[in-house]
Amino acid sequence: MSIIGWLLDAIVLLLLALIVYKQRWQKNMLEALDERLPRAISQHSQKSSIATTRQLEELLRLCLRLELQPGALPPTRGYAASPDFLNVLVDIVRERQPERVLELGSGVSSIVLGYLAEQHQAMAIFSIDHQEQYAEETRMRLSAAGVAGHVRVHVAPLREQTFFSERKLWYDWSRLPLDNEYDLIVVDGPPIDETGSKGREPVIELCGRALRVGGQVVFDDAYRPGEQSIIARLAEEHGYTVSERVAEKGCVVLTKHSTPLAQAPDQVASGQSPPP
Ligand SMILES: C[S@@+](CC[C@H](N)C(=O)[O-])C[C@H]1O[C@@H](n2cnc3c(N)ncnc32)[C@H](O)[C@@H]1O
Repeated sequence: MSIIGWLLDAIVLLLLALIVYKQRWQKNMLEALDERLPRAISQHSQKSSIATTRQLEELLRLCLRLELQPGALPPTRGYAASPDFLNVLVDIVRERQPERVLELGSGVSSIVLGYLAEQHQAMAIFSIDHQEQYAEETRMRLSAAGVAGHVRVHVAPLREQTFFSERKLWYDWSRLPLDNEYDLIVVDGPPIDETGSKGREPVIELCGRALRVGGQVVFDDAYRPGEQSIIARLAEEHGYTVSERVAEKGCVVLTKHSTPLAQAPDQVASGQSPPP
């Protein structure tokens, strides 16, 4: 047999060996998956049912605290706030009795704040939504709950503006009710799938200008990297104190100690004058 014949035989043998090796490897992988997959699925579903049970318990606690019938609140979780976060809002309002509350991102949290205002008559709530559709839905739910008199829902569409020399898509500053300072700012909007992961950064400027010294800002979604970086900046660069609360999406409450920012933000949009 010629050298070429030997070489061809060798190549064929090598290919056969590779095919056998690949089949064994696939078989081993499938066996391992067979063993691990049901365990992983069961662990995942166990974790998720524990989380669901916990939120059901929190929802029940929330209804009892607000003296509501089960079903009185719109659906929670997902885009809406989770019951554990809503209970943190109840804690804060009952402990600190804020008179003026600014909420970024309307929804079930606005209804909870409305019920709280019904009990603490001195509280006025200003809720911001970037979409008329969701603002209108919240207004209708506030009316159905009989607490519309306590909550004003403003639409502030997202607009590109400059904050601390950076262009950001955020609520149109000129549409925000900033004629007076707030005791509490609740940050649960705008959605970062529209603004990017650090899309809520302008809150730093908002707190500098519109949160009174001694006031608090509370973040939902505090486990996300974007929120964590905003919280770190408020603490490190602006002297806020940080208190972490237990909530499935993460919740952090910060208290302002420094004086408000002196410098006006650089509002660059056409015809837009800087806020007073
Ligand atoms: C995180 S949500 C605010 C949730 C609100 N704080 C609550 O407790 O229900 C932020 C914004 O997402 C928008 N949004 C609400 N539900 C949505 C949905 N199902 N799909 C897309 N956007 C939604 C609304 O404009 C809302 O202001």
